[in-house]
Amino acid sequence: MDDWTDGYVTELPYSVNHFPEMAPAHLRLALLQAGLAAPRIDGDFSYLELGFGQGLGLNMLAAVHPQGRFFGNDFMPAHVAAAQALADQACSSNLQLVQDSFAQLLERDLPPMDFIVLHGVYTWVNAENRAHIVALIARLLKPGGVVYVSYNSMPGWANKAPLQRLMSEAAHRQTEGSALQRFHAARDLLGQLDSAGAAFFVSNPGARTALREITNASDTYLLHEFAPRGWSPFYCTDIADDLARADLQFAASAKLFSNFPQWSLPAASRALIGATEDQGLRELLRDFAMQTPLRRDVFVRSPRTLGAADIERECHATLIALQRPPASCARHVRTPIEAVRLADEVVDVLLAALANGPQTVAALMALPALANTRPASIRETLDLMLCLGYLGPATAPQAETRSRAHALNQALLKRLHAGERLSGLVSPTHCAGIAIAYHDQLFLAAQQAGESTADALAAYAQAVLRISSGSKATSAALPELHREASNFLKYGDAYYRSLDMFSAPG
Ligand SMILES: C[S@@+](CC[C@H](N)C(=O)[O-])C[C@H]1O[C@@H](n2cnc3c(N)ncnc32)[C@H](O)[C@@H]1O
Repeated sequence: MDDWTDGYVTELPYSVNHFPEMAPAHLRLALLQAGLAAPRIDGDFSYLELGFGQGLGLNMLAAVHPQGRFFGNDFMPAHVAAAQALADQACSSNLQLVQDSFAQLLERDLPPMDFIVLHGVYTWVNAENRAHIVALIARLLKPGGVVYVSYNSMPGWANKAPLQRLMSEAAHRQTEGSALQRFHAARDLLGQLDSAGAAFFVSNPGARTALREITNASDTYLLHEFAPRGWSPFYCTDIADDLARADLQFAASAKLFSNFPQWSLPAASRALIGATEDQGLRELLRDFAMQTPLRRDVFVRSPRTLGAADIERECHATLIALQRPPASCARHVRTPIEAVRLADEVVDVLLAALANGPQTVAALMALPALANTRPASIRETLDLMLCLGYLGPATAPQAETRSRAHALNQALLKRLHAGERLSGLVSPTHCAGIAIAYHDQLFLAAQQAGESTADALAAYAQAVLRISSGSKATSAALPELHREASNFLKYGDAYYRSLDMFSAPG
């Protein structure tokens, strides 16, 4: 193993991801839900991503916030090269990417940051690198600055963590073969152990489910999730203790549902947890109540609590946009704890109003068609729709934002032809990357290539699928693609156009 990796396995590049929860507007919304002030993003602000991977998310955010300065590091050369290529295509002059380890980044002269974010990093690096990360945050975060950190959490990993340990022991004790071959063999060993009736699997049914997940995992996920030598899941209080050393306090969850106990905690444990004064203990009880496997925590340095009037004013001024096609917004939904039914009469009115473009919460609440609905019901429906990802925070895009987003999206669509499956595209309307289903990405690419009918969209998608699968797509795929393309034109087209993701032809 190379020394520079510090036990991180670099044999395969990581998957290309973006996470809407890391967008500044989303983090501001999460803090507002917790009644806390957040850095402004309508003027100059600074944003650092640690361990950006392929850099898709960071590139998306830099492209749509020309007023912000974006920085990021990753120590894998292939990751930095891929991220830089995207930045060049989007002409994002406000983005500085460096091929640095966390230790090297500590030596750099960087400006104070409003946001420092890291996803899929803290669990996956060793203790020394976690200390570097805390030191970077301690040094760089401004007062009032925000940290987003995700990590595998306990006891949500109680069934799976021993399996990681066994695989890691088995694979790292082998010296023959690539890391991937050794982890395949280690994974097989887990299956053999289960078949041999090992008591661990017999007495932990959850471990069998975990084994199935591991067995079905892609090679990329297998290595980047399970192979790092320093891998460790954490109790949320461990993370709060680490970040307290950088003078930070837990503020909210970037998983918006978690900021609403009525939707994220079983009724039976809600009172018990709610009555717990100590915030760290409260969060820990929540993780036991919900078996949370991955936390996405938001911390703030010197958080400022907003008064009720400020919260109300900020909420009302928040601009909201559709974040998926209205026709795909189901009314029977699941919160993390239960099935609920959205109020059709409120949802229909909100979706219809938002189909015309983003609206402030105040404007939505004042819609004449909702005059007879209690304001509290409208707010509750809006909150639920935000938690479900039907709606998202929007920001009035600057002129430059649109052309940069258009350039980045064109560059991303080209990558579909190389067989890449993107997690989404960037929306100037949201000033963020948004999730888009893979086949919808193909239909959008077809439209950008000048196609307009369902027949042509389906044929285009099939051609890309053929190239990307390296073989002939089955003839049965075409009728299915045709059906999907028809639905896309009928139900998705107006929505995607409203996002302003591409420049008008001509
Ligand atoms: C699981 S990946 C997550 C990548 C990205 N944040 C995402 O979610 O798509 C962990 C990332 O941390 C980077 N990394 C690991 N150890 C590092 C170190 N010591 N210094 C800098 N980057 C490191 C890896 O190269 C990898 O890109």
